[in-house]
Amino acid sequence: MYSTIAGTGSYLPEKILTNADLEKLVDTNDEWIRSRTGIERRHIASEGETTTDLAEHAARRAMQAAGVAPGDIDLICVGTTTPDLVFPNVGSLLQDRLGIHGCPAFSMEAACTSFMYALGVADKFVRLGDAKCALVVGAETLTRIVDWKDRGTCVLFGDGAGAVILKPSAEPGILCTRLHSDGRYKDLLLYPDGVSKGFALVREGKAGVQMKGNEVYKVAVNTLGGLVTETLQACGIGKEQLDWLVPHQANIRIIEAIAKRLDMPMERVIVTIAEQGNTSAASVPLALDTAVRDGRIRRGQLLLLEAFGGGFTWGSALVRY
Ligand code: UT7
Repeated sequence: MYSTIAGTGSYLPEKILTNADLEKLVDTNDEWIRSRTGIERRHIASEGETTTDLAEHAARRAMQAAGVAPGDIDLICVGTTTPDLVFPNVGSLLQDRLGIHGCPAFSMEAACTSFMYALGVADKFVRLGDAKCALVVGAETLTRIVDWKDRGTCVLFGDGAGAVILKPSAEPGILCTRLHSDGRYKDLLLYPDGVSKGFALVREGKAGVQMKGNEVYKVAVNTLGGLVTETLQACGIGKEQLDWLVPHQANIRIIEAIAKRLDMPMERVIVTIAEQGNTSAASVPLALDTAVRDGRIRRGQLLLLEAFGGGFTWGSALVRY
């Protein structure tokens, strides 16, 4: 038994912040942001718009694409680092919005890799026969926890959500998922406050995403390079068999390095970073849905999904779409 992607959906908030807008906030410029990251603009959740709001739009679009009704869904698994509340979790909040009652619903927190973790876990539920119609979402309002005075990080992030519906299938589907973490790197990329820390930094206005960008960059390129090789080997697939790379959208230079590692021309890589920035857990399902809807990704093609984020965490999925 395998799981297969029956439909995809995504959502971006209406409000757009351009590089020119950021020039008015911090000492930066469009040329630096474009050349170092590939980002031109990003979408920002409006006041009062929450992660669950974004997730609901993406989920409804994925359900429509898969031709499933809320009553069909028997598992909800959301990847997010920016939940509306401490609890109930975003999975339960989304469940209520969709009018679904009783099935397991939870969120998984693994920074930018959260969607890959959610997909990996939901895939196991489906393969084991414990779910017949799983809703898997990556949704973030990461701009809510950004330090808007830190030019090294505030130019990078955007908000959004992406979703897939997984169903059982005798044919793959998801051939394999790989999930990893190494907490040794916890100090290179973090948000340094939270419930158990007492929110002291938040109260003092000193909290915000912190990143040693250059060090993260180097580990990300090496780690993702190893991850794509490991994933292909685990499935006995050669890199020449891949149709599309659907990477996490953190930096165009990282994406290009991984494409090079796979000998894939950039025409076979889904790149949304210019328009969306780094939407953390939402970036891979957003890229996937973008390319499914514009007709680039077609049924039967072989896709490699990958992400890397704080923790560090990293994960991948090899998918016959
Ligand atoms: O999604 C989770 C995983 N995240 C990632 O994988 C992100 C990995 N890191 C990166 O993508 C890159 O390291 C960044 C885009 C964050 C930074 O690019 P970089 O080429 O590594 O730049 P840098 O941090 O080494 O900084 C180079 C220079 C510095 O100035 P000096 O010291 O050379 O004078 C920075 O102060 O660029 C300066 N700088 C900026 N200048 C204009 C940093 N941010 C900005 C900015 N605008 N926004």
